Amino acid sequence: MSNIIDIGIDLKQQYQIYVGQHLGEDFKAFCKGRYPSAKAFVIIDENVYQLHEERVKTLMDFFDEVHFLTVPQGETSKSVKLWHRFVNEILEIGLERSTPIIGIGGGVTGDLAGFVAATVLRGVPLVHVPTTLLAMVDSSIGGKTGVNHSTGKNLIGSFYQPDAVFADIAFLETLEESEWITGMAEILKYAAIRNPKLFGELDELVHQPLTPKSRWADVIEESARIKSDIVQEDTLEAGKRAYLNFGHTFGHALEKVSGYGAITHGEAVFVGMIAATYFSDQLDHPVDDTRFSPFLALYKKQMSPLSANAEELIEAMKSDKKVKNNIIRLVLLNDWGSPYLYSCEQRALLEESWSYTLKKFNQ
Ligand SMILES: NC(=O)c1ccc[n+]([C@@H]2O[C@H](COP(=O)([O-])OP(=O)(O)OC[C@H]3O[C@@H](n4cnc5c(N)ncnc54)[C@H](O)[C@@H]3O)[C@@H](O)[C@H]2O)c1
Repeated sequence: MSNIIDIGIDLKQQYQIYVGQHLGEDFKAFCKGRYPSAKAFVIIDENVYQLHEERVKTLMDFFDEVHFLTVPQGETSKSVKLWHRFVNEILEIGLERSTPIIGIGGGVTGDLAGFVAATVLRGVPLVHVPTTLLAMVDSSIGGKTGVNHSTGKNLIGSFYQPDAVFADIAFLETLEESEWITGMAEILKYAAIRNPKLFGELDELVHQPLTPKSRWADVIEESARIKSDIVQEDTLEAGKRAYLNFGHTFGHALEKVSGYGAITHGEAVFVGMIAATYFSDQLDHPVDDTRFSPFLALYKKQMSPLSANAEELIEAMKSDKKVKNNIIRLVLLNDWGSPYLYSCEQRALLEESWSYTLKKFNQ
């Protein structure tokens, strides 16, 4: 007979997300109260370093010794190879358990910096300074970190929460239009699953020049609040966190079939949300895709025609992480703001949803 020892580990952690413009003073005050170490490592996107060198150096002048590790732009930087190089460099320079790693950039840099922070010395403090719209509203919140593997995206990583997130919208001054539109898909997702008022807010904002005005800060703040509420309810993605994947089961399949990089994640999610909304509509839920119509032309303008067919897309959906016993599970809408998980056994309706959506983007 064996003896059993019960162990209860509380995963509850709290941290603040700062959203606003010119957050340098808040950042320094936070570091002063938190980090005794005079040293910091900054893992930073190469474009951000080039475009915002002054801003970044001023931000970091609180620390006596700062080491910058630059991340070449693009998804291929989320690799074991770069993770290994950074860990080597950091360990060779030397650090203590209290030395922070600060990730400054979009989701690629944040995911990589987070994984470095999670693994070096089994975990050192992490601060995210997201600089893309997508990173501000999505990837910097919730603690998913990791790198890609040749067999798929985000297959190596861990849940590791930052000490704080500083979303300074001043960084968005240099963001290209295509990246605004990419990030906007995640905000539209929050509109669909939690707060439909965001549809109207975005409709007004996107038809003006895309500059980081204060109304964007409000939309970013509301989006960050929605993501953090959902993540708090289900940190390790055992249930409700799956709602954040609205449009993603369709979208990931499209990314996979098109070849990663041929279509951005945000574009794929936008397409996926149209398909998931159509599917919900066919189940007689009172939703249809007119809510997405004001944004359709923006996505179509920057996307190439979709060459994938429904057959191969459905096959690709079967490798989604939500698949259980070979059954595809979709996030659908009961109504706007009311998502649910649905085990999909109607192949014909999946095919119809894809055909409808592909036609919409290719006409
Ligand atoms: N951890 C999560 O929960 C989570 C959630 C969603 C997405 N992601 C990941 O995020 C990644 C995508 O993130 P992304 O869309 O931010 O892409 P990205 O990090 O590749 O950044 C997009 C481009 O914007 C540039 N850039 C960044 N900030 C800029 C600025 N202020 N001005 C000008 N250019 C700037 C970058 O150099 C890059 O060329 C994917 O790897 C995805 O898997 C993670």
